[in-house]
Amino acid sequence: MTKVYTIASGKGGTGKTMTTVNLGTALALLGKKTIALDADIGMANLGLVLGLEKSKITLHEVLAGKADISQAIYELPTGLKVVPSGISLQGFQNADPDRLQEVMSKLVAGADYILIDAPAGISKDGVIPLAIADEVLLVVNPELSSMADAVKTKVLTEMVGGTVGGIVLNRASAEKTELTSQKIGDIMGVKVLEVIPEDPSVRRAAAFKTPVVVKYPDSQAAQAYKRLAAKISGTKRDEPVATGKSEGFIDRLARSLFKGG
Ligand SMILES: Nc1ncnc2c1ncn2[C@@H]1O[C@H](COP(=O)(O)OP(=O)(O)OP(=O)(O)O)[C@@H](O)[C@H]1O
Ligand SMILES: [Mg+2]
Repeated sequence: MTKVYTIASGKGGTGKTMTTVNLGTALALLGKKTIALDADIGMANLGLVLGLEKSKITLHEVLAGKADISQAIYELPTGLKVVPSGISLQGFQNADPDRLQEVMSKLVAGADYILIDAPAGISKDGVIPLAIADEVLLVVNPELSSMADAVKTKVLTEMVGGTVGGIVLNRASAEKTELTSQKIGDIMGVKVLEVIPEDPSVRRAAAFKTPVVVKYPDSQAAQAYKRLAAKISGTKRDEPVATGKSEGFIDRLARSLFKGG
């Protein structure tokens, strides 16, 4: 059985692409047949961060009806298979997001996991991935604007018949003013599956077009991504996620903002 996860957020720049890349790579390294697909067809960068930006056939050509999905799959040395999107505006204009569901039905054969890197916002090409996934994972930063947009994405997911499976709390630091993972989970009514710390290794690895789980496997972020992969695939006992301690202004504000939500 293939499990399809859409990695979404609402707000841009929360770490969807990094989560797709690192969770996908970690799953592949656990021996799971995993495909990462870039559904951010307007602002694609999954291929870019993995060194696949020169790929001739991408999801753009597939969604334009000019190529078969089998021609747009690229396998990396880790075993992760990647379907990048093109970076040209013309390619984006020719791509029909309505074809995504049909593409997915062809992809699922033989895959254990498919991770869809979703675009930010609530455009049509962003909504379809929310509807076609078995579970949507929300990548949230510990700040109110990120949470507010993620709540919108959660509501939208449910409106289109999808399911939110959990939160990946990314770029967490030990700052006292930050919302704790427990509170974010409580306020949003969604379980926090893992906390990925703010870690300069993530960007350092990106400079080498290599996932942090490969380039700096012992870094804090890499370890967190590997825990998440183990949890999702059931290959390792759950470990407790880090939780902060403070309750301050932001917590109270968040509580009042999301009261009853
Ligand atoms: N845990 C982390 N620690 C430090 N930097 C991070 C972390 N996660 C992501 N980043 C950095 O934040 C930036 C945004 O990450 P990413 O591209 O994954 O976000 P995104 O949600 O896919 O953005 P977009 O909405 O534009 O598609 C990148 O420069 C990335 O290297
Ligand atoms: Mg992205």
